[in-house]
Amino acid sequence: ENNPVDLKKEITRLKEEKNAVFLAHYYQDAEIQDLADFVGDSLALAQKAADTDADIILFAGVHFMAETAKIINPQKKVILPDFKAGCSLAEAAPPKEFSEFVKAHPDYTVVTYINSSAEVKAYTDITVTSTNALKIINSLPADEKIIFAPDRNLGKYIMKETGRDMLLWDGACVVHEAFALEKILDLHKEYPHAKIIAHPESEMPLLKVAAFVGSTAALLKFVQEDDADAYIVATEAGILHKMREAVPHKNLIPAPSKEDNTCACSECHFMKMNTLEKVYNCLKYEYPEVDVDEDIRLKAIGSIERMFELS
Ligand code: 13P
Ligand code: SF4
Repeated sequence: ENNPVDLKKEITRLKEEKNAVFLAHYYQDAEIQDLADFVGDSLALAQKAADTDADIILFAGVHFMAETAKIINPQKKVILPDFKAGCSLAEAAPPKEFSEFVKAHPDYTVVTYINSSAEVKAYTDITVTSTNALKIINSLPADEKIIFAPDRNLGKYIMKETGRDMLLWDGACVVHEAFALEKILDLHKEYPHAKIIAHPESEMPLLKVAAFVGSTAALLKFVQEDDADAYIVATEAGILHKMREAVPHKNLIPAPSKEDNTCACSECHFMKMNTLEKVYNCLKYEYPEVDVDEDIRLKAIGSIERMFELS
């Protein structure tokens, strides 16, 4: 007779016992979001990590998010349920190539999306997220020469919205580039009252047909404050959990992606590597633990502090 562990109960117990705070991103599975102490977008999660007095930060998200929490909190233990939970954007900027690119443009200010490694942040002047990118770029002098990395789609969107020219790194998110514009427009014909809303990691043709573009937190806020009764949501499908809770009477339709004819939604396989069982094991064994080389950490932290000041 096996005696299965009550994962939810045990995670809650271990959290108290170890004085751990459990942070989760909006793209996590619903059961993980429901158990977390705080669910948010990249900026809110980084701010929460900066604020906490817990001894352990259990981060249900992807590696760069946990790494950012560690850069801010070198004295705390930061654990991530699956160490392989990476990000195609962070992968798109290998540190060596990136440092050479930065060195080749010494008169440029380096603005980097938080979806990047600690090493890349070490070559960065200001870190941004999709929540604060427009505000931060607008706060820089108009003639400032800017390198923006690694997301070319977010970069193009910022250029369009701010009228700035920026030198773009050529990276992209696999999930947000997989949306099928044709299928989205067909769906819109079926639901003409639904508004298309999208994350700025998506490509420009999709962003152009969207009624609203914003970070996960901004999209969640929009469906609550806007007066339409239906939305076609072009970001990772995990966000639908909090949206459905917030506006249960509205019709929330996940935007279809290119290859996918069955599930009809987009999932980030990195985010979905985290499971309740891995969360439990991670907290129980305090493993895997995120570590950042102290020399890199000291170089990277300035770019995150600049972001907090300018947010
Ligand atoms: P947000 O900061 O908008 O939550 O975005 C995180 C992310 O990885 C989007 O793909
Ligand atoms: Fe990275 Fe894209 Fe996944 Fe976000 S959705 S974590 S940008 S791969």
